[in-house]
Amino acid sequence: MKAIVIEQYGDKEELKEKELAKPDPETDEVLIKIQAAAVNPIDWKLRYGYLKEKFPFEFPIVLGWDAAGIVEKVGEDVDAFQKGDRVFVRPELTNRGTYAEYTTAKAELLAKIPDNISFKEAAAVPLAGLTAYQCLLDVGNLDSDEKVLIHAGAGGVGSFAVQIAKDLGAYIATTASSKNVEFLKSLGADEVIDYTEADFSKELEDYDLVVDTLGGEVQEKSFEVLKNGGKLVSVVEEPDQKKADQHGVKADFHWLIPDGDELSLLAEMMEKDKLKPVVGSTFPFTEQGLKDAHELSETHHARGKIVIEIDH
Ligand SMILES: NC(=O)c1ccc[n+]([C@@H]2O[C@H](COP(=O)([O-])OP(=O)(O)OC[C@H]3O[C@@H](n4cnc5c(N)ncnc54)[C@H](OP(=O)(O)O)[C@@H]3O)[C@@H](O)[C@H]2O)c1
Repeated sequence: MKAIVIEQYGDKEELKEKELAKPDPETDEVLIKIQAAAVNPIDWKLRYGYLKEKFPFEFPIVLGWDAAGIVEKVGEDVDAFQKGDRVFVRPELTNRGTYAEYTTAKAELLAKIPDNISFKEAAAVPLAGLTAYQCLLDVGNLDSDEKVLIHAGAGGVGSFAVQIAKDLGAYIATTASSKNVEFLKSLGADEVIDYTEADFSKELEDYDLVVDTLGGEVQEKSFEVLKNGGKLVSVVEEPDQKKADQHGVKADFHWLIPDGDELSLLAEMMEKDKLKPVVGSTFPFTEQGLKDAHELSETHHARGKIVIEIDH
């Protein structure tokens, strides 16, 4: 099967097309014929070798940890899925990712794609959608009468978080540059702080929750907008517990936990038109397509998700 791999760490020029053996599912796994994959910042962070201690994968590494496709084969212990099902998944992080024509994944991590959602849209969901859901609900415990600040609302994680918080009924503030202000209002944000014009920490106060997708100075200033007893959840940088204590707030780092049941909840929201994946750009499944997709992701200014269409 065709795959795009890296055989050493480095810049986007390391992305190479290679012929690999088609994988065979274990007893608790499903083989998926991938129709679309997505690019996330973790892909190029891993490609540069920034995560090599956390994930000491053997080369060649197939990057990409989002897939939408058709079940081709199921392991003997799998009964929730069958050949022909339309499914999507954030598979376990291994060196066999989803820039490939086929991938295997544990059946418990999969969910079925609703009929009103295309493969392209579905591929945009698992990694970023689950991250947003878990930060808001599993870790953030957000309630409908609470206020949440979602940083980088126009990005992959942010564009899901804004819609999920909206569906819950919470009050949403988010940060973005001028070009994304109207877009974020259309997604359901109550207040959009244009970071090129204003300092969010001077505009907002008494927030119950902050979802930090940026780290650094943004994380530090975010403590100031929380009310006493509020919470910051970061997906980029371990928060400083001393600073959290000084502000009388809680602070956690969260690493996404792949989960098929939660992905099914997102599928239900999409089926009811309460959640719409924002596919900001699409690239072909070629070396050049992946290089261009990585280049865009590395700008930190892609809108919504970057999707790769995989033709067979
Ligand atoms: N821990 C985990 O499990 C986990 C899971 C998913 C993601 N992450 C991490 O979370 C981060 C965000 O991921 P993502 O997929 O959402 O990234 P992304 O899609 O690449 O984010 C791009 C967005 O960030 C916005 N942005 C850039 N600088 C900003 C600023 N100073 N203030 C407000 N918005 C800004 C841009 O909007 P403008 O163009 O308007 O600036 C753009 O729309 C990444 O570092 C990723 O690795 C971690």
